[in-house]
Amino acid sequence: MGLQDSGHVSRTWFVAALLMLAALHQATAKDLRQVTEPKIPAACTSLKGSGGDETSVIQKALTACAKGKAVHLASGTFVSGPLTIPSGVSLWIDSGVTLKASSNPKLFDNGKNLCGTLSSSNSGCNPLIHINGATGSGVYGKGTIDGQGGVTMTGKSISWWELAHEAQEKNSNQNCPRLIEIDNSKDITLYQITLKNSPNFHVVASQTYGFTAWGVTINTPSTARNTDGIDPAGSQNVTIAHCSISTGDDNVAIKAGNAATKYVSITSNTFGVGHGMSIGSEVNSGVSDVTVSSLTLQGTTNGIRIKSDRSRGGLVTGITYSSVCMKNVANPIVLDTAYSKTATGSKIPDFKGITFSNIKVLSAGKFVFNGYSDAVPIEATLNGVHITKGSTWTTSHAKITGKYTEDASGSC
Ligand SMILES: *[C@@H]1O[C@H](CO)[C@@H](O)[C@H](O)[C@H]1NC(C)=O
Repeated sequence: MGLQDSGHVSRTWFVAALLMLAALHQATAKDLRQVTEPKIPAACTSLKGSGGDETSVIQKALTACAKGKAVHLASGTFVSGPLTIPSGVSLWIDSGVTLKASSNPKLFDNGKNLCGTLSSSNSGCNPLIHINGATGSGVYGKGTIDGQGGVTMTGKSISWWELAHEAQEKNSNQNCPRLIEIDNSKDITLYQITLKNSPNFHVVASQTYGFTAWGVTINTPSTARNTDGIDPAGSQNVTIAHCSISTGDDNVAIKAGNAATKYVSITSNTFGVGHGMSIGSEVNSGVSDVTVSSLTLQGTTNGIRIKSDRSRGGLVTGITYSSVCMKNVANPIVLDTAYSKTATGSKIPDFKGITFSNIKVLSAGKFVFNGYSDAVPIEATLNGVHITKGSTWTTSHAKITGKYTEDASGSC
C-alpha cells in the first residue's frame, strides 16, 4: 500500500469517524433511557366509588399498598382532596371511573389560608395528586381525573377559572391547585389516563429523573387560564409520547428555572387548542438535548415556541424539531428572547443549535426569530420547512442556515 493510498484510507476513516460522532451527538438529543409502552402494575386493593368524598379511603389504601403495586379505583365516581402517592406505589383509575377534585378550597389549603383567593403569591394550594421524593410511582388507567376547574368553589360564588381571570384583571395571583405535581422523584409514569378541567397546571414534573407520560389525554377548554398541559422542569430523561393535549395554556412547556432540563423526547403527540409546544419562559438553568418529533398541532395559538427574556436569560441548545405538521396555528414558529417586553435585567437568552426538519405549516401565520443581539444571535437551521403563502417571516439578530419554501400542501 503506497503513501497516497494510506492517506486516502485515513481520510476515509476520518470522515467516517466524524459522521459517527455526529450520529452519536444526534442520538444524545433525547431521553437516554430505552422507553417502551408502560404496563399497569397489579392491584394491591380495589375500591368502588360512592360518588362522595373519599379522600381518606383512597389515602389509606395508598399508604398501605405494597411497593410495586397499585390502588385500583375499579368502578364508580370518587371525590377527593389532596392525595400523596408513596414511593413505589401507583394509582390505577380504571376505564369508566372518574376521580373528581373536590371543589372545596379549604381541603387544598397548605397552611397559608390562601387557597381559593387572590394574593401576591400563587403557592397557597396543595395539588390534587402529589408524588414527592418517590421512585417508581405512577398514575395509570383509562379512567378520568376531573379537576372541576369550572365548578363554583365551595363557600364562594366563582369557580377556580373565574378566580384566575379575576387575577389577570386585578394584576394579582390566583391560588388554585395543580392536578398532578411530581417533585424530586425518579422513574415516574403517567399512562393512558385522561386529565381534564384542572384548576391550574395539569402536570408538573420538577427535578425528576426519568419521567414518562404515555398515551395521556388532556382535554380542557382554551378559555381556562394557566392550565398548562405537561411541564417538565429541571428534569432529565423525559419522554412524552402518544399523548393528545388540548388546554388553555402551553400544551407542553419545558422549563429550567432551578435546574437544567435535558434529554427530552417528545414524540408522536397531537395538540388541539392551547398555546403550543413551548420551551420557557424559565430557562435560566439551561435546556438542551430535546427532540420533538411527529407532532401535529391544530388550532393552537402558537406552534413551536422558545421564550425567555433579560430577567431570565438561559442557554437553549441542541433542540431538534422534526416531522411537525400544523394547521390553523396563528404563530407557527416563535423564537423570542424578549418574551416579556417589560422584563428588566441583563441576563442573556442564548438560543443556538436549533434545527427544524420536515416542518409543514398548512395555513398562513407569523414566524418570528427575535435574537438578543448581533453578538448573541439565534442560530437555527432550516431543513425542509414548508409554509403557506401569505405568512410573515421576521428575523432580528438571527443567523439562519437554510431556507423555507412557500409550498406546504396536503393535510396533517
Ligand atoms: C438517564 O438515563 C441514563 C440511561 O438509563 C442513565 O444512565 C442516567 O443516569 C440517567 N440520568 C439521570 C440524571 O438519572
